[in-house]
Amino acid sequence: MSGRLEGKKIFITGGAQGLGAAMAKGVADEGAKVTITDVNGAGAEKIAAEISAKHGASTAFAFAHDVTNEDQWIAALEGANGAMGGISGLVNNAGISSREGGIEELSLDGFRRLMSVNVDSVFLGAKHSIKYLAKNQPGSIVNISSIAGLIANHTSPGYNASKAAVWLLSKNIALYCAKKGLDVRSNSIHPTFIDTPILDPIRNMFGKDEAEAKLGRQVPMGRIGKPEEIAAAAIYLLSDESRFVTGAELKVDGGISAM
Ligand SMILES: NC(=O)c1ccc[n+]([C@@H]2O[C@H](COP(=O)([O-])OP(=O)(O)OC[C@H]3O[C@@H](n4cnc5c(N)ncnc54)[C@H](O)[C@@H]3O)[C@@H](O)[C@H]2O)c1
Repeated sequence: MSGRLEGKKIFITGGAQGLGAAMAKGVADEGAKVTITDVNGAGAEKIAAEISAKHGASTAFAFAHDVTNEDQWIAALEGANGAMGGISGLVNNAGISSREGGIEELSLDGFRRLMSVNVDSVFLGAKHSIKYLAKNQPGSIVNISSIAGLIANHTSPGYNASKAAVWLLSKNIALYCAKKGLDVRSNSIHPTFIDTPILDPIRNMFGKDEAEAKLGRQVPMGRIGKPEEIAAAAIYLLSDESRFVTGAELKVDGGISAM
């Protein structure tokens, strides 16, 4: 299928690699224009150039942008609005995890850093993008949480707390937009382990094959996921196929949360 996002103008954070890059390529394949931002501006430029080489010069744009910085949010959104001729979709994807240790090991600075990158980003992105989405309705906000926002473990207090915050903040944004009478939806995606550089610390610890097998054994379907499998979920939530879906959480987790 193609053309499911024809006419859409999508802003994706953290798009220099991993899920953000896969989603940027996926939405362009479905006919959207896309703006990729990342604290790694050169990486974002590279992905945008690849997309524009495939789909035409005015398909993809890139900006250096730290999602914890409010002024940079305002500038990047205004730049994307100018470049794409509007913004109809926002994907709050940029995020970090860390080898945190348990609640007694994680420092307050470490906790605040996780909350800042993973949660301030979603707050600022929604706060400053709604005015653009309102002008380009129907609009859609997709927030990349994690299965770790719904299911806790004993080693990631900051990641668990930050991704749980993204889950409920998504619902708050959904209700705010609905109450305002806007045709702007907000939903969260909850991936389990997906094959991106975010898993590198675990790969470095156990070796690539053993690390992926170890993680895969925790998933009922027996494997880690592919970035394209998260991109497919984002495409659905960004498209008009999900026109009546808001405040929902879409788990893309090979069944892990069903246990
Ligand atoms: N891969 C997984 O297993 C997995 C599972 C669940 C959720 N997630 C979530 O998916 C999202 C993407 O993860 P990924 O696996 O692609 O990770 P990744 O580390 O491969 O990519 C993250 C991107 O975000 C960018 N980034 C980091 N801090 C930033 C900041 N302050 N401002 C702007 N950009 C910043 C990085 O430069 C990088 O390009 C994250 O929110 C992550 O928590 C990933």
